[in-house]
Amino acid sequence: MDRERLLRELEEFLRIPSVSTLPAHNADCRAAAEWVAAELRRLGCRDVEFLGSETHPVVWAVGSEVPGAPTLLIYGHYDVQPPDPLDEWTTPPFEPTIRDGRLYARGAADDKGQVFCLLKAIEAAGRMPLNFRFLIEGEEEFGSKVLQDVLKREPHRLRADAVLVADMAYVAPEWPAVYTTLRGLCYAEITVRTAKSDLHSGEYGGAAPNAHEELCRLLGRLKGADGRINIPGLYAAVKRPPRAELQAWKKLPFKERDFLHKRVQAKGLTGLKSYSVLERLWALPTFEIHGIIGGFTGTGAKTVIPAEATAKVSLRLVPNQKRVTVERQLAAAVKRLAPKHVTASVKFLHGADPAQIRLNHPAFGMLDEAFRGVVGRGTVPARAGGSIPVVPALRAGGASVILTGIGLPDDRLHAPNEKLDLQQLWDGIEVFRTFYELLGDGAR
Ligand code: BES
Ligand code: MN
Ligand code: MN
Repeated sequence: MDRERLLRELEEFLRIPSVSTLPAHNADCRAAAEWVAAELRRLGCRDVEFLGSETHPVVWAVGSEVPGAPTLLIYGHYDVQPPDPLDEWTTPPFEPTIRDGRLYARGAADDKGQVFCLLKAIEAAGRMPLNFRFLIEGEEEFGSKVLQDVLKREPHRLRADAVLVADMAYVAPEWPAVYTTLRGLCYAEITVRTAKSDLHSGEYGGAAPNAHEELCRLLGRLKGADGRINIPGLYAAVKRPPRAELQAWKKLPFKERDFLHKRVQAKGLTGLKSYSVLERLWALPTFEIHGIIGGFTGTGAKTVIPAEATAKVSLRLVPNQKRVTVERQLAAAVKRLAPKHVTASVKFLHGADPAQIRLNHPAFGMLDEAFRGVVGRGTVPARAGGSIPVVPALRAGGASVILTGIGLPDDRLHAPNEKLDLQQLWDGIEVFRTFYELLGDGAR
């Protein structure tokens, strides 16, 4: 294939700032959907349709019919996370740039580059070796509500033998992976109100309550310095991975020291110290503060006691936990931990249930074989710390969901200077082309 042409096409896709969490980018999300639809038509798909939303449509398509062959549903997302902080990007997020064999842009790895890879693997095959269906959505980064509603109304869209989700990464360079769990998510805003309005900190300071102080104390109570989350009942559903699995993780190319020094690049790690880092990342719930809003943050100085403060927070959930239960537990904990003299409220923005997947479909073996042939190593089973909200719903039709991907652990998803190594893309096209052919042949 002409790699120069492929790069031009991918760069065109990456130039569209399809940020789904910002309404100012609605038209860009629509434009990214149009880009995907045009690509699917070029591949020879019939019935290319937009479902569920004008601004963040799910792109649905059906490939050419291959009688007797299995059906593979391809899932992906064309939306991306906001690119800020902008001044930390070496080159602007929506001006894709190649440096040292890496393509830098928001969405390069998550997930436009991977969607591109799955589609170009069909082009590389020169034909459709099996029955393809496509669900490429535009709201994954905001909880996938549009797609989940579509699937509730039209469950027949899920009729397939397997669903391929390439929105993940290798566990390490040269170590492709297939994932057995995804964490869930519960995203909320906690707001503390202490007075009718802001007050002069000289006239009132010393006696009037301060919203930021109250919020900080509340947040500090929700998670202790030892990493334990102080939400009653939260850990009740958490199950430790079986001993054999914990043992198997020790053979993965993962070193806690390298994780600290090369990936996190901090002075030390946090969390529940009696568990391995992988267990903390993959099999335990988390509580994170994403940002705190309110009070005076402008230039210069202003002596004021803020009356309101809001924290954006989220919890990651592990298999067996339920998003609705955790929402109830968080709301109750906030109510219980807030002192009488403040009004504390919790607003839930979006979330996801966790997922656990058994690797018991023949397609997993074929994917393993495809990776082995192209990159010299098969897929290692791993767990994922991240979330893909629609995955539990994708399983509802009975198909096996294959969680894999071509990214690398240092791709900096959601962060400045996100990138995709071009070799990962070229290998990925070969891997998925081979996988499609194996799956198509397997039925004969
Ligand atoms: N591709 C990621 C999920 C992911 C990241 C899986 C890393 C495995 C490893 C996905 O696009 C994502 O970022 N999901 C969000 C979902 C949320 C906004 C509802 C997440 O995990 O934060
Ligand atoms: Mn993604
Ligand atoms: Mn993402």
